[in-house]
Amino acid sequence: MFFYNDHFQNYKKYGMHKAQLVIADIPYNVGKNAYGSNPAWYKNGDNANGESELANSEFFDTDKDFRPAEFMHFCSKMMKKEPKARGQAPCMIIFCAFDQQMYLIELAKRYGINHYINLVFRKNFSAQVLKANMRIVGNCEYGLLLYRDKLPKFNNDGKMIFNCIDWEKDSTTPKLHPTQKPVPLLKKLISIFTDEGDVVIDPVAGSGSTLIAAIQMNRRCYGFEIKKDFYNAANKLINDTLDIQKYGYPKTEMENDQTSLFCNL
Ligand SMILES: C[S@@+](CC[C@H](N)C(=O)[O-])C[C@H]1O[C@@H](n2cnc3c(N)ncnc32)[C@H](O)[C@@H]1O
Repeated sequence: MFFYNDHFQNYKKYGMHKAQLVIADIPYNVGKNAYGSNPAWYKNGDNANGESELANSEFFDTDKDFRPAEFMHFCSKMMKKEPKARGQAPCMIIFCAFDQQMYLIELAKRYGINHYINLVFRKNFSAQVLKANMRIVGNCEYGLLLYRDKLPKFNNDGKMIFNCIDWEKDSTTPKLHPTQKPVPLLKKLISIFTDEGDVVIDPVAGSGSTLIAAIQMNRRCYGFEIKKDFYNAANKLINDTLDIQKYGYPKTEMENDQTSLFCNL
């Protein structure tokens, strides 16, 4: 497992193994309205208390560092080559805003990633409760499964897998990131599209949730995160996850400090 505090643009110097699955939750470009309709806009969720520090704020300030074409180029280079055998092809899953989907589908084609299946992740709750008595509120996240030509590896155990997938809440992983994805959901996706030992890459790793899911499923993984604060917090959580897997408990912070930029599984 390697986790880089880096743009994914520098990937060539790392000599990474190619991915069976790329999972990327890209910046949604929601700008200063990130907490719109969310009670967090107000202190203690009550507009009588006035606005909180989250009003008119972004989820994170690294949207501007994200260049979709460079990202897609990286993903196309880092996905394993198309294998001869059926049922072994790599793929990528992008979590994205509803409005980004058509752009990403067309962008992917420029890099030879010609096919898609749209994904909907259904929550049994909504963050938009402030609008709940005025209009329909959103309870879904959107995503794309993208692949070149051959259908990707697919471990469905003989069951139908619907493109509308239940959003499993994550009650155990510490919350480190405003748009953190649930580890149980990531584990489900990883289990469908990879086998043990396969490589999973998350180019925009945030809290490291994808890497934690991959480690817990005995997949090899690489991640990138440009924002130092997220990287540091995620790195600690990843080290703890590795410790738990190896020793059954997280080692002390002092011991963990001995692992610097990356750690080896
Ligand atoms: C939507 S968040 C990902 C959250 C993550 N899926 C999680 O569960 O915690 C996108 C992340 O991409 C990072 N990011 C933006 N541009 C980047 C770049 N060029 N290279 C690496 N990371 C980048 C942001 O700092 C942000 O943390």
